[in-house]
Amino acid sequence: MSARVVMLGAPGAGKGTQAKRIAELHGIPHISTGDIFRAHLERGTDLGQQVKPFLDAGHLVPDDLVCRIVVHRVREADCVNGYVLDGFPRSLPQAQALQRELNVEGAVLDVAINLAVPDDELVERLAARRSCPKCGRIYNLRFEPPRRNGYCDFEGEEDVALVQRPDDQESTVRERLVVYHRTTEPLLAFYRDTGLLRQVSGSGKSPEEVSAQIEEIFCALGVN
Ligand code: AP5
Repeated sequence: MSARVVMLGAPGAGKGTQAKRIAELHGIPHISTGDIFRAHLERGTDLGQQVKPFLDAGHLVPDDLVCRIVVHRVREADCVNGYVLDGFPRSLPQAQALQRELNVEGAVLDVAINLAVPDDELVERLAARRSCPKCGRIYNLRFEPPRRNGYCDFEGEEDVALVQRPDDQESTVRERLVVYHRTTEPLLAFYRDTGLLRQVSGSGKSPEEVSAQIEEIFCALGVN
C-alpha cells in the first residue's frame, strides 16, 4: 500500500517534526522543500544563490522553480510507494502542479494534514528552535531540549553544536506568517473541497501526542 501525504501548517507548526516521524514509521521519504533549499545554500550552488534572497526575506521562492524541483524529486525511485511532502505545496499554483503530476503518474494523494497552532505560539517556538547541522534533528530549547545543552543527542562521541536558522529571527518569522496567511492558508479550502483535509491541533500537546493523532487519522483512512 502507498502513502502520499502533504503536511500543511504555518511556519513552526511542527510540519518537519511530524513529517520525519511519518517517514520513519511508514518507510517513505520525507521531502522538505525548505531542507532542499538550505542544503543548496550550504553547498553554495547556483540554486542556493538563486533562492537565498527569498529565504532571507521570509518570502516564497517562485512557484515555477519550486514545482520543477518537487516534480523531479517525486519521480525518483524511492518515491514509488509514496512520500511525505513538508512545506510543499504552499500556493494554489503549487497544489495544482502537484495534482497534475499525480494525474500523470496515475497516483492519488491520500491525505493533507493541517497542523493548527496560534501565531503567538509559533513566534515563541521558532525563537527557541535549534537543529543539528549533521543529522537534521530538530530541538526546541523550551519544549524539546537536547539532553546536553547546545549539543545534538544523536552524534555519539562527537560534539555537534546545534544551530539556529537565520530566518528564525523574530522580524523574519513575522513576515513568514504574513506570507503564510496570504498565500498558503487558502490551500486549506482547496484540500477541504477535495475531501483530503484533516485538521490536527498542534498546540498544547507534545510532539508524541500530535503524532498519535496523525497515526489515528492514517489508521481510519487505511493508510499504512
Ligand atoms: P521551510 O523550511 O519549509 O519553513 P516553514 O514552512 O516556515 O516551516 P518551519 O520549518 O519553520 O517549521 P515546521 O512547521 O517544520 O516546524 P518544526 O517541526 O521545525 O521553508 C523555509 C523557506 O524556504 C520559506 O520561508 C521559503 O522562503 C522557502 N520555501 C520552502 N518551501 C517553499 C515552497 N513550497 N514554495 C516557496 N518557497 C518555499 O517545529 C518548530 C519548532 O517547534 C521546533 O523547535 C520544534 O522542536 C517545536 N515543536 C514541534 N512540535 C511541537 C509541539 N507539539 N509542541 C511544542 N513545540 C513543538
